[in-house]
Amino acid sequence: MDKSNSTSQSIENYLKSYWIASTPGTNYPTLNEDIKVDVAIIGGGIVGITAGYLLKKAGTKIAIIEASHIVQGTTGFTTAKITSQHHLVYDKIIASMGMNIAKQYADANEGSIGFIEDTANKLNIDCDFQRLPAYMYTKEQKYIKEIEKEAEAALKLGIKVKCIDKLPINLDIKSALIFENQAQFHPRKYLLPLAKTIPGDGSHIFENTEAVEIEKGNLITIITDKGKKILASKVIIASHFPCYDGMGLYLARLKPQRSYVIATSIKEKFPKGMFINVEDPGRSLRAQNDGENQLVLVGGEGHKTAHGDSFKIHYDNLEKFAQSVFSVKDTLYKWSAQDYITLDNVPYVGKLTSQEENIYVATGFGEWGMTNGTAAARLLADKILGKDNPWEEVFNPSRPFSSVAYKRLFTENFDVVKELIISKIKSGDDEINIKCSEGRIVELDGNKYGAYKDDEGTLHLVDITCTHVGCELKWNDAEKSWDCPCHGSRFTYDGEILEGPATHKLNHYKEGKIGRASCRERG
Ligand code: FES
Repeated sequence: MDKSNSTSQSIENYLKSYWIASTPGTNYPTLNEDIKVDVAIIGGGIVGITAGYLLKKAGTKIAIIEASHIVQGTTGFTTAKITSQHHLVYDKIIASMGMNIAKQYADANEGSIGFIEDTANKLNIDCDFQRLPAYMYTKEQKYIKEIEKEAEAALKLGIKVKCIDKLPINLDIKSALIFENQAQFHPRKYLLPLAKTIPGDGSHIFENTEAVEIEKGNLITIITDKGKKILASKVIIASHFPCYDGMGLYLARLKPQRSYVIATSIKEKFPKGMFINVEDPGRSLRAQNDGENQLVLVGGEGHKTAHGDSFKIHYDNLEKFAQSVFSVKDTLYKWSAQDYITLDNVPYVGKLTSQEENIYVATGFGEWGMTNGTAAARLLADKILGKDNPWEEVFNPSRPFSSVAYKRLFTENFDVVKELIISKIKSGDDEINIKCSEGRIVELDGNKYGAYKDDEGTLHLVDITCTHVGCELKWNDAEKSWDCPCHGSRFTYDGEILEGPATHKLNHYKEGKIGRASCRERG
């Protein structure tokens, strides 16, 4: 395991997820011939792997395709809490969608905790699963009432909760709510063994295999980046942001959000529990034993992707917070995640559109992908196997908009239009005068480019018009990436795609060599 000391290393040396650094990589084959299966699953995160496991177990022939490597997308960058405590959610769902629907949400998420525990036990998977209480707290007077309302709502829905005014941790609070019997785990230690149960008997996992087109017919054809095809009767799109929209208008209904995690070692013993606050900026805490050290994962600082000026500051803020609560020895890992949030904070899981019979989607888990993602996989496996599932209605992607959803639809899409307009009227510099490891927007001959100088001093320029629908990208100084403020696509400094929905890389111009993307890549 590779670790670095926070005080002496530059940030990129230790920007890595503990979950990925502490487990072996995977090496599944690339699709190199046309194949036919019953169900194709696009995306090898918690939804894809869990649904694949369930469908294969039921005798279905499946193929999971993953653009890079499995469990290295958002599932590899989580805080890995398995909890039905999702901030202040139940009171809001009861108010906007009613008691029955809120009960479905609570049951689905509570059910995920038991499902993960049972599956790990059944398959003898040692994934550091631990039952623990989850504490949600506030340091502000104005949220005391909200916490009380949430306690009332959760109790009505059958979740065991209790209000308290003291935490077993060094935080001075006004009020808190405990959810008993929640859990945490190591997501890759759980999902990599689960994935191993899938290949064989006509089922497959393919890595480095990207879906670039979906064609509908008697069977659905997925065309991959290497030109090979998968024919399937049903398709699950579990690619985080749906790689195929099918007129479902997911672009307008999902907001991209980034949040940050640091893993620190501390001198004192961390109490039994997981913690999260209600107010902004967000603060989340949990422990993880890595064998030598007890790590504390400190998360939070969420913001809409590519909004805000400096990204490094989020890690600094988390370190300051950690130092205010603990005697910190070292910060060993730092990573960030991208989540998609729906208009009403409830994921979209089910048929891609109300007219679509054979293509399913699972997206918009907010920051609660471990429980929501597991519930989504179980729901979709049931639908495909023709079984009833009690949570269909709450997650239905074609559900009517609540008043909360309408309001957010307007706000988010106004923001997208604003970014497009701003990008056309702002002017930039005339010279490329930047330091090593620095990135920013420059203007050359009246055209704007994203400029980055690497550690060797080589200058990289990219077109900064997002290849999705054309918003102007912003520089993320912490991760050396170009991020889109509209729908959250992200690109490396040399134009490769880090996150969709964009499916085409950026034109890249390197000092001394101009490397234009091919026509297909340029769309
Ligand atoms: Fe939609 Fe960039 S992700 S315009």
